[in-house]
Amino acid sequence: MIFSPKNTKMIYSSSTPKRHFLMALSIIFVLSSCQNDDIADNQNVSEFISALPENVTYPESNPYSKEKEDLGRLLYWDPIMSGNKDIACVSCHHPNLGYADGLSFSQGVGGQGLGKDRVNGVEVRRNAPTVINTAFNGINNNQQVDPELAPMFWDNRTESLEQQALLPMLSKEEMRGESIVEDAIVDTIIQRLNSIPEYVSQFEKAFGSNEINQENILAAIATFERGIVANNSRFDQYMRGDLTVLTDLEIDGMNAFIQVGCADCHGGPMFSDYKLHIIGVKDNITPVDRGATNKFDFRTPTLRNLNLTAPYMHNGIHTTLEDVMNFYESISDGDDDELNENLTLHKLDKEMKNLELDDDDITSIIAFMNTLNDDNFDKTIPNSVPSGLPVGGNINQ
Ligand code: HEC
Ligand code: HEC
Repeated sequence: MIFSPKNTKMIYSSSTPKRHFLMALSIIFVLSSCQNDDIADNQNVSEFISALPENVTYPESNPYSKEKEDLGRLLYWDPIMSGNKDIACVSCHHPNLGYADGLSFSQGVGGQGLGKDRVNGVEVRRNAPTVINTAFNGINNNQQVDPELAPMFWDNRTESLEQQALLPMLSKEEMRGESIVEDAIVDTIIQRLNSIPEYVSQFEKAFGSNEINQENILAAIATFERGIVANNSRFDQYMRGDLTVLTDLEIDGMNAFIQVGCADCHGGPMFSDYKLHIIGVKDNITPVDRGATNKFDFRTPTLRNLNLTAPYMHNGIHTTLEDVMNFYESISDGDDDELNENLTLHKLDKEMKNLELDDDDITSIIAFMNTLNDDNFDKTIPNSVPSGLPVGGNINQ
């Protein structure tokens, strides 16, 4: 059955006995006007997943300006922001690597080279998520987003791009290094920026005064990041009404994605509920990473632009989408071979236990996830940065 964003017809093709059963059950539920979240058969796709907005919402406390965005780009690329002047934000979030770094675990201080060629850096204990579309972090399926409360990191430990941008600068592993203590790093960076006339004048243009302070630095970086958007994937075009852009296989995959329960967590325009979940991904680091609240709970990641952001999961343990699907299938089969050794199946979130993933659905769901890719985002690389240091830090070795 073909889904059109405007109609409210049933959306699933019932190919398995289980689906016939669910379909029958849902009719009974509808007849008795019962609500049941687990039975989605008679819902419209757009009740679960939807296109991204065409425009970014900027916070009232930090409205858009071109001057701030331009300044933010320079700060994002300039290794002057790191303790040893050798690492910039872009060292781990590079446009040629989908604003991520292609590594299971990022390499921070002391690192040389970019992506898979990066060596000698202090290992950061998590996989670098992409910066693309972080302007939309926290968005719900009604397109509402509050950029001041946008959850950040695999454990949602901070809110907003402004607050997030401070933490890599403070982090000994990521940017600060050993030579400067945490309490002094921001003042050191401010002093350095004040000694570079181009920065003094750029801050003046962006903020109306020449004041270089922490708040203005973070405001500029966040404004730059909010401009890195990819919101016109084939899925977005389809949801906005162009029904010709998806193939039958992809539409089957979209329906299966909802039917088997992926959208219970990967819902909304970003394909994330931005909540913490225990899904039981295996460990590959010592000491083990116990997640946000010590329960092996991690934030649902976006599924947009997965073609650019492998390897997957908080620890980059899965190299391909096939690997990810095998993990979900084994859990859905009640098998614990792929499960984190510190957990048992009954400790997983209920949405995870409710997954009903068959082998048949894997190809179509992967095809569907690939409709969420959009390669048309800002990839500008500045020719130089005001400090005169190598653009992006030691990434060209
Ligand atoms: C050494 C590599 C490295 C550097 C340098 C770095 N990051 Fe990250 N970034 C990471 C890793 C790893 C995470 C995930 C950490 C976690 O979740 O615990 C992350 C997370 C993020 C996130 C959260 C995305 C989301 O969806 O939750 C944003 C935004 C971000 N970084 C921006 C920046 C900015 C801005 C800078 C420069 C000020 C920067 N990063 C510097 C590795 C790096
Ligand atoms: C219980 C909520 C939940 C359900 C259901 C769920 N996921 Fe996830 N998904 C997550 C969380 C949380 C992570 C990150 C886990 C981690 O890093 O340890 C994740 C990670 C992923 C990733 C890796 C993305 C990246 O950038 O690293 C993919 C791909 C994915 N899920 C696809 C799916 C598909 C397809 C389904 C349905 C078969 C599904 N998920 C069902 C919560 C869920």
